[in-house]
Amino acid sequence: MSSLKLLKLNAVRNIQQGELNLHSRLNLIHGENGSGKTSILEAIHLLSSGKSFRTSKTGSLVSVDGDELAIYAESQSGHRIGLLKPRRQAAQLKLDLESQKNWDNVARLLPVQVLDAGSFLLLEGGPKSRRRFLDWGVFHVEHGFLNHWRVTRKCIAQRNQLLKSARADEQLLQVWDRELCQAANSVDLARKTYFDRFVPVFAETYHALAGDSAVETLSLEYQRGWDPQLELETVLKNSRHQDLKYGATQNGPHRADILVTAGKSPAIDVLSRGQQKVLVSALKIAQGSLFSEAIQDRCIYLVDDLPAELDRENRAKILQKLLRLDSQLFVTSVELDSIKNCLESTPEMRTFHVERGTITD
Ligand SMILES: Nc1ncnc2c1ncn2[C@@H]1O[C@H](COP(=O)(O)OP(=O)(O)OP(=O)(O)O)[C@@H](O)[C@H]1O
Ligand SMILES: [Mg+2]
Repeated sequence: MSSLKLLKLNAVRNIQQGELNLHSRLNLIHGENGSGKTSILEAIHLLSSGKSFRTSKTGSLVSVDGDELAIYAESQSGHRIGLLKPRRQAAQLKLDLESQKNWDNVARLLPVQVLDAGSFLLLEGGPKSRRRFLDWGVFHVEHGFLNHWRVTRKCIAQRNQLLKSARADEQLLQVWDRELCQAANSVDLARKTYFDRFVPVFAETYHALAGDSAVETLSLEYQRGWDPQLELETVLKNSRHQDLKYGATQNGPHRADILVTAGKSPAIDVLSRGQQKVLVSALKIAQGSLFSEAIQDRCIYLVDDLPAELDRENRAKILQKLLRLDSQLFVTSVELDSIKNCLESTPEMRTFHVERGTITD
């Protein structure tokens, strides 16, 4: 089962040392502003993916009073995961005492989703955040995707290098094009297959959350990153001139996106802030729902400060929906009661109080 039983932190931001014996379903973390709540969630995210959800500079997570941070966790299924991250050097990751070259195995073991103020960039931000969102699901559900995606990235990087060189060798370009097209078609197929499964799960989740205020004209469309009517090979040939001009591949799966529209307009232009938050929450919850259905496992949700612009009823619906997913939840809040008041009945849970970096339960 993908959930954490024990979490130990050393020199993570203002937390010099912390130990949390976790509940398999609901963990509430409360404390004043700046006490260290988000840092606990960040540590879980860093362990599961090598990245923070707050910053691209993972070195900044290392306590100013230390040279390296350490995170250790045990999963309910008995796996042990350890991470050492010196401020300036690369991280060292271990799974069951074995050094890991990358995060593939640990990311599969710890499928973590985040719901925080930054999640709303999913609608506001560029395609990259939506591609990342889509690929989280594709990675977990569609096997073989990761290898095809790695080949795609390698081909695009090689191709871009050639395009930038003063005299791009046409024959060499064609070699990379052929390999790129093969991998790109597999990436596209995996994404499309996942997306087709995702849409009905999302629709159901969204209607359950939004109720009467659901925007009926809302729709999601997958865009693969090149003309849907043409083969990528043809598109690459047709855009050769443009690619050479920019020194970069203009079409391909690295340009994929999910269009979120309400009627004929982008949802972001039509929906209120609150409605956008309900929509993003539905996207995130639907992903966990599909994950559980497809993998017969559960996700870990990190819910940081259930966004302020949601009213109590919406916060309650989101929490209840997450609880019903049977996922493991970590929910932070300044006021413990503001979360407890959102829960229908009092489910089994563990609460943790954080005060200036010290965690007590
Ligand atoms: N590298 C670091 N070393 C030591 N302290 C740090 C470091 N980075 C950040 N901090 C401090 O750690 C504290 C915890 O930050 P964190 O964001 O986890 O607080 P929080 O409890 O989530 O607060 P809020 O309720 O405002 O969201 C803050 O006081 C911050 O200034
Ligand atoms: Mg915080």
